[in-house]
Amino acid sequence: MLSGRSFCLAFVVALISAFGFVTLSHSGNNTDTNLSNNYDVTLSKVDGTPDALNPTSPEPNAAAQPSSSSIVPLQNWFDNVTETQDIDPKLFKDFWRKWELVTTRYKPEGQQLRFVYANKIGAEALAKGQYPFPEGTVFAKIIAHAEHDPIFDSSLIPGSIIRIQVMLKKANDPKARDGWVYSLVPVYDTKLTSHLTTNEIDACQACHVVAQSRDMVFSQPFPSPFGAAPAREVGDNSFQQSFKKMSIDQLPSHTRDLVKKLAPEAKSVQRLTMPSFIGTLGESREVLAGFAHKQNAVYILGSEDEKNILIAAPQDNCVALTSFYEDDAQDKKFQRTWSICPDQNQ
Ligand code: HEC
Repeated sequence: MLSGRSFCLAFVVALISAFGFVTLSHSGNNTDTNLSNNYDVTLSKVDGTPDALNPTSPEPNAAAQPSSSSIVPLQNWFDNVTETQDIDPKLFKDFWRKWELVTTRYKPEGQQLRFVYANKIGAEALAKGQYPFPEGTVFAKIIAHAEHDPIFDSSLIPGSIIRIQVMLKKANDPKARDGWVYSLVPVYDTKLTSHLTTNEIDACQACHVVAQSRDMVFSQPFPSPFGAAPAREVGDNSFQQSFKKMSIDQLPSHTRDLVKKLAPEAKSVQRLTMPSFIGTLGESREVLAGFAHKQNAVYILGSEDEKNILIAAPQDNCVALTSFYEDDAQDKKFQRTWSICPDQNQ
């Protein structure tokens, strides 16, 4: 029999191993500074920009879970979609029923399930590892909240959809970057309520360049459960290597101020600037925290103009993070500081 105390401990350990990272909850070092008003994003009207990207959203790992009743069957709304960004919606109509599900991913932060589909030519090229992908390849990614199954809560199920993103290989399209047209599909609507700006599309490209050796596609096919799994490329650490070491005096003023607040002792940092938007910060928090933890150094990612800044600094056995985001369209600024503790077992 476990005593009450050791049971408690076992429970905490189980929780820690269930999520790669755990948040330090309510420890006083979590300041949520919304410099202006609330970032007003409703789940029913997300077409790709904020929500999960919302820096004022709750703690990582503790995102509010919409109820299962908010699940909208894909076919009900998708049939009526008349507009997607820069790609004809007919090209990926019914993709979740007709295409191959090439992989799934789980993002512990924010508890998201991600499903990546490819059309036939794309799935075949991916299975064979034939890069670059042929013209006409399309990948579509559905991001959904992971929710509890009300009738048998042993695992998490895909719940309401957060966003759907698409990329089409069409090298001579004027909108293409590195041969790919990056696009969003409206969710819970038939038209896009807002479009990706040029800067945001630059940001899609800037991050996908990390997977340059696979023609900008991160996803790898499922390993086969029978026989040999397809050869997997060993991940390189070129992304980490693209950060440059510099003294904090070389940083532009706002970034330097934020670093001084977060890590007053730091003399030098590792910094990478690239076209980025709020989505870049959301996708990169755990990655940067991992770098800071393993290298015991301050890591900074963001745009040259300092409108998006993400800083990760080692702090005891944990990592302190600050994210800053300036939204020109709404004339608002957001800043948030919190800590995460990488799993000791990793
Ligand atoms: C900060 C990094 C980052 C940014 C910015 C980013 N992505 Fe991705 N994207 C990823 C990662 C990582 C994956 C792999 C699947 C996952 O983990 O969700 C991915 C997967 C995808 C896929 C499935 C094909 C693949 O590469 O696996 C599509 C389609 C996609 N992203 C579209 C977009 C679009 C459109 C944008 C811009 C609005 C964008 N991405 C911005 C990191 C990023």
